[in-house]
Amino acid sequence: MAENTLRPKSLQGKPPWKTQEGQNRDAQNVDFDALFVLAEWGRGCSDRGHAVATFRFFSPAGTGLNDCIDQERLQALASARHEGCGLAGDFYFDPEIYRAEIDQIWRGGWLFAGHTCQIPEPGDFFTYEIDCESILILRDEDHCIRAFYNLCRHRGMRLASGGGHATRFVCPYHQWNYDCKGQLCSSWGMGPDFDKSEWALLPVAVHDPAGFVYISLAEQPIPFEQVGAQLVKFATPQGLERACIAKCAEYEIDANWKIIWENNRECYHCNVNHPQYIKANFDHYNTDDCTPAIQTRIDAQVERNRAKWETAGLAATHRQTGMASFPDPESESGWCAINRTVLVEGYMTETMDGQQAAPLMGDYADPDVGTLRMRTMPNMWNHSSCDHAVTTRLTPAGPRKTLIQVLWLVDHDAVEGRDYQLDQLLPFWQLTSEQDWEICEQVQKGIESRAYRPGPFSTYKEKNLEAFVRWYLKQLVRD
Ligand code: FES
Ligand SMILES: [Fe+2]
Repeated sequence: MAENTLRPKSLQGKPPWKTQEGQNRDAQNVDFDALFVLAEWGRGCSDRGHAVATFRFFSPAGTGLNDCIDQERLQALASARHEGCGLAGDFYFDPEIYRAEIDQIWRGGWLFAGHTCQIPEPGDFFTYEIDCESILILRDEDHCIRAFYNLCRHRGMRLASGGGHATRFVCPYHQWNYDCKGQLCSSWGMGPDFDKSEWALLPVAVHDPAGFVYISLAEQPIPFEQVGAQLVKFATPQGLERACIAKCAEYEIDANWKIIWENNRECYHCNVNHPQYIKANFDHYNTDDCTPAIQTRIDAQVERNRAKWETAGLAATHRQTGMASFPDPESESGWCAINRTVLVEGYMTETMDGQQAAPLMGDYADPDVGTLRMRTMPNMWNHSSCDHAVTTRLTPAGPRKTLIQVLWLVDHDAVEGRDYQLDQLLPFWQLTSEQDWEICEQVQKGIESRAYRPGPFSTYKEKNLEAFVRWYLKQLVRD
């Protein structure tokens, strides 16, 4: 692994959105309010967590890409897998399979794009790049989160990059400009018969439950409501909508995105590779190596937690050894799973010493709330403690490359230096994450070998890998 491969870029530069220091807020600080009358446009506004957006979905297809995929070959590779074993090597580097994944999974599912707290004020925006798309995500004047294809309707120029604040999005090419509802407001030089109302920005399906922003590029997105309701139920006490970004780290990892998920879905590797993580957690123990003494400790923590939090809805939902099950290939909403679980005695939060490092978040009145774990396929997991939350977003950038963004969130009133120190807040998940990235790069190298053959999963410790592979093949291979 090259030394600079895993260097968190944001530790040297500015995150591309509002930070507590207000960095980069003026990236597109353009105000055309005096020139244009705002037009109300009722489409494409998310419902802040509950409702169903009524979109006319733009199809990025028309490319015929799906038709290029050899379904017979995919079927043959999928059927050749032995139950309880990994995928054939081709799945981790073959460009045609990668193309099929993009079309079937990444363009078909709901993608975590970012957090609502990254765009707290009307006009705040950020962009998310996936495959050949750039998606512009913003908050409009009515505080609704909207998403649009980040391209000018004139001749396709990108409208914005990174993040910032704008009351109008002015195309750098010929200066057509759009308001925060996507309406084309000005198109000088197009003549009196030009109907601006027909050339609004193209909306993208978006939902923003409990501070998470999800987008879908699908013409007909899969159902979101059940997952949205789960996120609202479990994540609302964490207060992610009332948070701010304490730090953003970005990584470019030389590994297929599935290797990163497979690594995430088991803790077989934790004892040796994650010395910090295992001090705080019980989930690296499984039924084969959990002694009666350890089980007694887990039971005591669970019972104490239950007695304390049951009426507040904060009791542990995952109460046994091993990791929570995820994903569920048999369920329509099996692309999301959320659980709260206990930490080891003495750990109030996932910091190096277990001590609270920032003010309590959300509705918590007590630091003793264990850890809230949320994850959605294909690209997000979040580990939330009483005082901070850590969100990891995956974005494939080729069969052998994955871009990873890790965000640390704290309460929006917390001030770095006064209420928390980054050197206390970051190391636990920064170390654990970077340990994983290094493993994943080495696994990619091994799988590239012509000698590679898929090996067997541990029935005790890698049940989630079998579930992941089944979920993946079900999304990928058409009946
Ligand atoms: S491409 Fe945007 S105004 Fe011409
Ligand atoms: Fe790990």
